[in-house]
Amino acid sequence: MGRLRNLISIQDLTREDIDLILDTSAKMESVAVKRSKELEGKIMATLFFEPSTRTRLSFESAMIRLGGSILGFADVATSSAGGKGETLADTIRTVERYADVIVIRHNLDGSARLAAEFSRIPVINAGSGSEEHPTQALLDLYSIRKLKGKIDGISISLCGDLKYGRTVHSLGMALSYYGVTVKLAAPPGLRMKPAIIDEMKKAGLRVTEVDTLEEAVKDVDVVYMTRIQKERFPDVRDYDAVQGKFRLRLQDVGMMRQDAVILHPLPRVDEIEPEVDKTPQAKYFDQVYNGVITRMALLRLILG
Ligand code: NCD
Repeated sequence: MGRLRNLISIQDLTREDIDLILDTSAKMESVAVKRSKELEGKIMATLFFEPSTRTRLSFESAMIRLGGSILGFADVATSSAGGKGETLADTIRTVERYADVIVIRHNLDGSARLAAEFSRIPVINAGSGSEEHPTQALLDLYSIRKLKGKIDGISISLCGDLKYGRTVHSLGMALSYYGVTVKLAAPPGLRMKPAIIDEMKKAGLRVTEVDTLEEAVKDVDVVYMTRIQKERFPDVRDYDAVQGKFRLRLQDVGMMRQDAVILHPLPRVDEIEPEVDKTPQAKYFDQVYNGVITRMALLRLILG
């Protein structure tokens, strides 16, 4: 890739770009431990208009491990955007004067793209509404590669809220670059957007939709669980109707392949029973660390 500038949608990247990010991530494993000074003097601003634990802290940890500095807000209510009604454009025009890269999470679809249009410095999308979460997809791919040794040829089930879950949108599109088999399992009303299914099929992926978690967990290499995105439901009664429907229990793990892995972008609410955590298949807390590694690679490719 030419020098990477913004990362707004996973579709901004080619397969070669993604492979380069994953290869650079592998190189970051030792740098993450030793630390480096290669981004000394660079500043990363994190603008989080929505709650976050892992995404913001892993970006910050990544920048610090590369010797860079961080600033930002995590609570929109204390920023002028929340407290005084400043527009996103004006917030960006301000923050670009303080930093070298902006990492933004916002509740509106299209927000990161809009921010990039106004920004003279690179913008990274850390979650735009229910639309996309491209850096999560990169860390998911990296986790799969690290755990299974490859991405091409694997089979994966995407389970849970495939309608409002932005991580599965980005991951689904990213998987289109690889020769994989995909099962989609969602409660009624939360199916994957048809446009993304079409995209995957057009790319030659074998995609099937199943109705139950039991069918989803069988005969796959990766079970990717997601939280029902309560905050995105226009009517809470629709949430109540699906809440608790897709719960991964110990007995479901018993039906999985011995060497299968369970991933989850986290946070978890009740969709994976805590007893599952101690099974060898449970890899979601290891996956968290890969977020630091892949974000180090991204920051290096954008700022280095
Ligand atoms: C996800 C998100 O914000 O979309 N969290 C994360 O960044 N790991 C998933 C979720 O909130 O369910």
